[in-house]
Parts: sequence; C-alpha cells; structure tokens
Amino acid sequence: MSEAWWKRSVVYQIYPRSFCDSNGDGIGDLAGITARLDHLQQLGVDVVWLSPVYKSPNDDNGYDISDYRDIMDEFGTMADFDVMLAAMHERGLKLMMDLVVNHTSDEHAWFQQARRSRDNPYHDYYIWREPKDGREPNNWEAAFSGSAWEWNEATGEYYLHMFSRKQPDLNWENPKVRAEVFEMMQFWLAKGVDGFRMDVINMISKPYRADGSLPDAPVVRPGFLQPGFGLVTNGPRLLEFLREMKQQVLSHHDGITVGEAPLATITQGVEITHEDSGALNMLFQFEHMELDSVAGHPNGKWALKALDLRDLKATMSRWQDALHGRGWNSLYLGNHDQPRPVSRFGDDERWRVESAKMLGTWLHMMQGTPYVYQGEELGMTNMPFASVDDLRDIESINVYQVAVGERGEDPAQVFAAILAKGRDNARTPVQWDATPNAGFSSGRPWIAVNPNCSDVNAAQALADPDSVFHHYRRLIELRRRHPVIVHGRHALLLPDDPQVYAYTRTLGGQTLLVVCNFGDQSPSFSWPAPLRGSRASLLIANLAVAEPAVAADFTLRPYEARVYLCQGEAS
Ligand code: GLC
Ligand code: CA
Repeated sequence: MSEAWWKRSVVYQIYPRSFCDSNGDGIGDLAGITARLDHLQQLGVDVVWLSPVYKSPNDDNGYDISDYRDIMDEFGTMADFDVMLAAMHERGLKLMMDLVVNHTSDEHAWFQQARRSRDNPYHDYYIWREPKDGREPNNWEAAFSGSAWEWNEATGEYYLHMFSRKQPDLNWENPKVRAEVFEMMQFWLAKGVDGFRMDVINMISKPYRADGSLPDAPVVRPGFLQPGFGLVTNGPRLLEFLREMKQQVLSHHDGITVGEAPLATITQGVEITHEDSGALNMLFQFEHMELDSVAGHPNGKWALKALDLRDLKATMSRWQDALHGRGWNSLYLGNHDQPRPVSRFGDDERWRVESAKMLGTWLHMMQGTPYVYQGEELGMTNMPFASVDDLRDIESINVYQVAVGERGEDPAQVFAAILAKGRDNARTPVQWDATPNAGFSSGRPWIAVNPNCSDVNAAQALADPDSVFHHYRRLIELRRRHPVIVHGRHALLLPDDPQVYAYTRTLGGQTLLVVCNFGDQSPSFSWPAPLRGSRASLLIANLAVAEPAVAADFTLRPYEARVYLCQGEAS
C-alpha cells in the first residue's frame, strides 16, 4: 500500500474572483487570498486548488488564457503570487495550479499569429478545417452554445473551439504544442507549485478520421447543432499524450495531479489513474453529477430530473470499487461549475445545517481525496437570481438566449433550470461576515452577494461549535487519525433503500460504518448482521447521539448522519 501524500490530503478550491477582494474594486484577488489563509488553516485542509489566475480577457473567467506565464491584472502581479505561495508554504499548505491547455484565449500570442496566414509558424498550433459545402466542417455545438467552428477570414478556414469562440482548441498532434505546454508546466513547478488540476484534459486528443476530418456527432436534436463532446472526451492519443507529460514533467516531481474528465467512464478512470501504467493521480469524473438530469436529453444538464438516491449509490459504488487498489478517486460534490451541494442534494432551508453536514460526512468518509469548494464549508446555498440580467456566466447567458430565442423554449422553464444548475450559483462572493457585501469587498462586487449572508457567514460559523464549518474541520481531522478512512475497502449496504445511504470501509479488522439519511423522514436502520453486538464507537455525527456501548438499531432523524468505528469486519 503506497502512502502518497495526496492520498491523505484534503483539497480546498479557491475561485479567486469570488474569494476575497483586497482593494475594493469588487473583484477577488491574490492579496485577498493571502489575507484569508487563516481560514484554510483552521479548517485543516492540506492543498489549495487555485482556479486560473493567468492573464485573460475573461470571456470565461480566466479559463481563456492569453499568457500562461503572467498574472491577470485584476488579480494582482507575479510578486503578489510569490507572496501568496510563500505564505501558503509557510503554513504547510500546498498549491495546485489550474492547467488549462485544451484551449487558449483567442488573444493568446500563439493564436494571434496562427490566424494570420496558413504558413505562419504558429498556424498549426490550432485546429483548422476548410468549409464543407460552404459551411462549418461538421455539426458540433460548442459547450457555450453556437457552432464549435468559427470562421477566420484571413486564412479562409474555420477553427475549432469546444467552448466559446474566444477559446480556440490547441492542436495536441503538433509536438511543438506539447513541448510548449510541458515547458510552461516546468516554469510553474520551478516557482514551487505542488501540482496541477487539468482542465477538460480528456478532450485534448481529437477523433480524426484517416482523411483528417472530424466526424459529425449523432443527431439528437434534429434541425439544430449537436453536442459533440461524446466524440472528443476519449480520443485515440489521450493516454499517449498524458504519458508523455508524465515522463517529461510529472515524474520528476512529487506533485498532485487531477484531471477534469467529463463523460469519463470507469475504464478510462482506471486506465488514467492506474498506479503503475497510468498518468495522473486522479480524475474528476462526472457520473454522479449527471444523475439529476434526464439521461440522453439534448438539453443535457438543463433537462432537470429529481435524483434517485439508488442511482447515486450505484454510481459512487462502482467508482469506489473499481479504483480500489488500482487507481485513486477524487471526491467532490461541488465546484465552480456546479450548483451548491446543500441546495442540490440537501435542503437549503429548514435543514440547511443538518443536510450540509450530512453531505460532507457522506463524501469525506469515502475512499479518495476530498475536495471542498469555497463556501461549501459554510453551507453556502444557491443564489436566488431575479432575472437573466443578474447572471454573469457565459454558459447560462448563452443557453438562455439560444433556448428561448432560437429554439422557442418556455423562458420561465429555462430560467428555472438556470436557477437550479447555473454555474453562477457557486460564484457569488464568499460570505465572510455580516458587514456590507459579506466582508468580501468594500466596493461593488462583480456578482451579487447572496442575501442570506447575514446568517450564513464565516464569522458566525467559526463562533458556533455546531456549525457546518466545525463539522467539516472534524471530518478532515478524522481522516488524519484513521487509516481506515484513507485505505479501507468500501462496501455498499442497502442498495435499494431510496432514502438511507449506508456503507462500510474495512481495514485490518476495523470497520467504519457510515449511515446517512438523505431525506426529511425518519427511517430506521438495522446494523449489518456481521457487526451486530460488536464494540462500536461513534466517530462523528451531525446530531446529538447518546453513544452506545455496542451496536444497536436506531431511527434516523431528518438528514441525520452517523459514523461508527467497529471492531470486526463487515464482510
Ligand atoms: C472546465 C472548467 C470550466 C470552464 C471549461 C472551459 O470545465 O471547469 O469552468 O468553463 O473547462 O475551460
Ligand atoms: Ca480586487
């Protein structure tokens, strides 16, 4: 059993624009992060994943990079970065950078050159195709609506952009592109960063046919563009490119790597994270994020469906079991692209605190590296945006315009889907205290602050021993103390129960029993037969419980979560 440090770590994600603003321009910045490191230290996390801070015109809030070796003006300077990194290291925090190399900004110097002429030395850094029958080369829709192809007058070609037209995809077939990326990674590693979160990394190898064309996507929405993602998330050279990166860069550093991998299958997960033959430590898989939308619907995540807890059990268990002893899982419920977990999977009104703690418990006791997204540790909720004008995210703004304006869908229904799933839910400012703008900024924030900030904020949470924050702190501490949480083998209990999610983790004669109520009813729980009557101690719970001397059946209260450590093996 290898004891890589990142297997014992908990990662905290910072979305810098919304974390803390130090100079009153309404935009979070690096000095703001440095000023708030106490918060992270108190929580007890080990690693910070920092969403992009590089130079960017901000078409997609920094995920469109125009210079990989410089800092975005709004966030500060390279000197501010160095101060922040040193301050993190001083506190024993590691820093994981966001590596966005499926695409650049169209304002990156490479693309500015590339688009000038077909014989420009940078032209082949990107993906160009001739028109087909006077139109776009295929039927792909970009992630942020519209065609994935944009016309470039100077060369008489289209370029590919899987995201916005200001995010042209890099041509990874070109060895110069790979060398540039690897050198850039070295640049940051030389500064002392501790690893990379790799943006949509499973999209870098495109599925070219023998004639160099890219095939049409299956038609799921006749008469319109088609989602082409399914074709590019597992391209033929993906593993080869990642292994090259490992060999050239990653293998020379004891860093942490996590690849964002939309539509990743378990096979891909095992292959890429495999301890010996893989390339990355872990992936962000998306299967559990897709269970509350209608499978196969052309509207994708916007086609809402209530979560069936049994689906979540099946999905999580498959990943837990498949990667055990072979690869490694990342554990997440939220990030800057997802709505707030307590609003999505819990109850963000009556049971906000209870359900936020239950969800954290459920996630942190699984096998893998847990990720906490800023504000999750406070039980921050989705944002009650009043209208489309309040939105800032290119994805939501564009989907509203296309769904309503072009496809004629019902505006109220489209907006309801954005309220439930839109990325801006996670991007409202972190609520630090009950002062104006929640202590995020002395100026006007770039996106509205959630009106619940007077009750839900860090100052309140730190002062209240029963807060979501202190519960997360205890969860993180438990991981440090109990190897069974890091290494134990997972087993699902009650696969068909629609409300109680229970599982065990077993290691060396000890069993961790995790029992979570995902609803507001009061179901009963019977101990699994092999553990009945065994010695059990309560490790953590989100409601007061009289600790039993031996295992005994119990009734769960709404959103209750309990974790027991038992002497004996469950199976
Ligand atoms: C990833 C990022 C997301 C971004 C997209 C394009 O999914 O997490 O925020 O919009 O890639 O870079
Ligand atoms: Ca600022």
